[in-house]
Amino acid sequence: MKNKITDSIFSVGVLNPNVRIADVVVKTSNGTTYNSYVVKGSEKTALIETVHKDYFDKYLKNVEEISDINKIDYLVMNHNEPDHSGAIQKLVELNPKITILTSPAGAIYLKNITNNSNLNLKIVKNDEYIDLGNKTLRFISAPFLHWPDSMLTYVEEEKTLFTCDFLGCHYCEPYGFDFEITDKSAFLSSLKTYFDCIFSPFKKYVTSGISKIKNLDISFVCPSHGPVLTKDFMLDQVIETYEKWSNPQREEDPLIPIFYCSAYGNTKQIAKAISRGIQNQIPNSKVSLYNVAEFDPSDLCDKLNKSSAFLVGSPTINKDAAAPIWTLLATIDAINNAKKLVATFGSFGWSGEAASQIAGRLKSLKLSTFDENFRVCFTPTEKDLENATEFGEKFAKELLKNLN
Ligand code: FEO
Repeated sequence: MKNKITDSIFSVGVLNPNVRIADVVVKTSNGTTYNSYVVKGSEKTALIETVHKDYFDKYLKNVEEISDINKIDYLVMNHNEPDHSGAIQKLVELNPKITILTSPAGAIYLKNITNNSNLNLKIVKNDEYIDLGNKTLRFISAPFLHWPDSMLTYVEEEKTLFTCDFLGCHYCEPYGFDFEITDKSAFLSSLKTYFDCIFSPFKKYVTSGISKIKNLDISFVCPSHGPVLTKDFMLDQVIETYEKWSNPQREEDPLIPIFYCSAYGNTKQIAKAISRGIQNQIPNSKVSLYNVAEFDPSDLCDKLNKSSAFLVGSPTINKDAAAPIWTLLATIDAINNAKKLVATFGSFGWSGEAASQIAGRLKSLKLSTFDENFRVCFTPTEKDLENATEFGEKFAKELLKNLN
């Protein structure tokens, strides 16, 4: 990996091309990188973030190619998730004098992440400066971009912004800059997956973060995952893309997906009857039925997150909802779907727990569960289907109250 960004800024992170899942939930089809940077001033030297603890030995070697570890004065922690803070403990064992610069929330997290009460921590606030000699670190507070501890660091003399996860991407090539990417389409695909998993719950903070950097003169954005973004190549494109994904177009008409599984077609019949009831009540609603076993969960998650309200139905199989339903429920963005109106339904043979189990899961995520769920024993009769349509009408009336 080439390490020189500018005459005073060097990349010293490590590559992890083979990882296929990061942070338990993020697909990393193109691997990832744990970036870290050295900023050299005429008097002081700073390190920006560290790396995942498993890569410390390689990391140390990279840092020492640029600076003696004992000559590092500051460690800037823009964000402290362990993929960035994991190597701190070993680093401070080698140089206990390092002053760690972080946000107020970051200082609390670091104590619990390292279990080291002797860290030399200095809390920095928005617009505070640290002088390195002929280079200055300026801190920009950015809480919830994407943790409460998040901040950005700007080096004005080098027109370089350090953003940690923000504007980053799980993408690994043995090169450092965006203009060296060999598979742009794979990079853009990884950028979307990364945004969806890490930043989509925090869209308003992304918009606010972009507004905080809009007036900065930036030649390089150095994130802590993926390539360095340059003004002359992909920097504007990535910022505009993040901005677009954070401001989705609102549909005029209510979007009401109905997600279901169906073993013998009974739950499917109920789903169709409910959809008729919704459309009777809200003719302009866009009601779509999805048999979840036939779709990629991430596509369904997108439809769920964009919906005005949604319903989930499952047969009861061995006292439980069907497995694909639980997979769908595991992908819900609980932050942006909070208080969204939801209802549950399903057919059953003898015990019939699925509808209430699904409602319990949705309620625990703080969605607004409809007062009743709709269940039918075995095959729905004509009367059952009429009742299902009536259930859909009642659900739609409740939604109209929320929309008005
Ligand atoms: Fe790359 Fe939020 O850690």
